[in-house]
Amino acid sequence: MSTPRTVLLTGASGVVGRSLLRTAAAPGTGSAAARGLRLLAGVHRGPVPEATDTVDCDVSAERFGLDEDSYATLVREVDLVVHSAGLTEWGLPAERYEPVNVTGTRQVIEFAERAGAPVHFISTAFVAALSDDAPVPLGEGNVCRNYIASKRSAEQLLRDSGLPHTVFRPTNLVGESGTGWTSQAQIVQLMSDWLARGRAPFVPAHPGVRMDFVAQDLLSLAVLGALREGDAEGEYWVTYGAEAMDVPACLRTLAKHLAGRGRTLAPPPVVNPDELEPGVIEALPPMARSFMSVLRDVSEVTRCSGGVLPTSMPELRTRYGVPHVDDTAAYLTALDYAAGQST
Ligand SMILES: NC(=O)c1ccc[n+]([C@@H]2O[C@H](COP(=O)([O-])OP(=O)(O)OC[C@H]3O[C@@H](n4cnc5c(N)ncnc54)[C@H](OP(=O)(O)O)[C@@H]3O)[C@@H](O)[C@H]2O)c1
Repeated sequence: MSTPRTVLLTGASGVVGRSLLRTAAAPGTGSAAARGLRLLAGVHRGPVPEATDTVDCDVSAERFGLDEDSYATLVREVDLVVHSAGLTEWGLPAERYEPVNVTGTRQVIEFAERAGAPVHFISTAFVAALSDDAPVPLGEGNVCRNYIASKRSAEQLLRDSGLPHTVFRPTNLVGESGTGWTSQAQIVQLMSDWLARGRAPFVPAHPGVRMDFVAQDLLSLAVLGALREGDAEGEYWVTYGAEAMDVPACLRTLAKHLAGRGRTLAPPPVVNPDELEPGVIEALPPMARSFMSVLRDVSEVTRCSGGVLPTSMPELRTRYGVPHVDDTAAYLTALDYAAGQST
């Protein structure tokens, strides 16, 4: 039997990292894809219950914060890198993202060059909103802007490095397709919980935008597929694109979930944020203001990406065996899982 190739996974304690480790260990396509791979979980602060093999790894620090000998050992050991570490919170000043998302990627590139290891980078589908051919410019004050800009810079660093690499650009993730499991509630869940309380006077969404959510195991299967195949080039939009549900379908799915729990949701009207009187959202009570402005800004990101996000889903299905999963079914499963956790 050949020696397994060692994969350094940065950000192993995150939603994506833990999903990847769990998918690789579960029976089925994930474990088959992971055969021949040893996943080495890069640990920063958070625990990684799914990891069997760990190494300390602060991507923002020189030599990942390791002493010279430990770093040199890691360089010798690692054959492949999945770079998933990142600062993912929205709404922070640009300089907050720099050390982790940009300098961190620079440190990963330096490491990968020394190790001779291709890098598989977890970026975001939202970079489409800042692309040169975006149909409309993204507002300077958009809550996602600085985060997206930092991920875009990280992608550029990888391209400029000449290092063999792939880029995976997931849209908002929800729980696993089969079970709804997630290690942490995601923005979709938080927004859904708030909408489920029936407090939204309306849903701000630009005409035609899709609600593009992907079950996290689909991303994991795609990345494991690329590792398994030894691919070292490619850019993949882990999105549904035109297959994604529209806003009314999303609200119907939420209502269906609530109906299963004996609750009713009168779906709020969908309103084009560009047609709102100025200051309408800002005049709402603090909680509603905050949720509604995030909904508006995420809608703006999608509109600036053409209304429908670019997608590589058909290619991911054929190339890496990513299963066909209905996005409304996955969303419903994720909602049901989260409700089960909170009761
Ligand atoms: N989740 C989504 O819906 C989604 C969608 C699109 C793109 N993405 C991208 O996918 C990647 C992973 O996202 P996620 O959802 O897993 O994020 P997450 O749950 O917020 O986890 C972030 C990970 O990065 C690690 N990290 C932060 N600072 C670090 C540092 N200085 N050195 C090493 N590790 C550090 C964190 O470790 P500690 O907690 O221990 O600090 C954690 O493991 C991100 O880069 C994000 O841009 C995620």
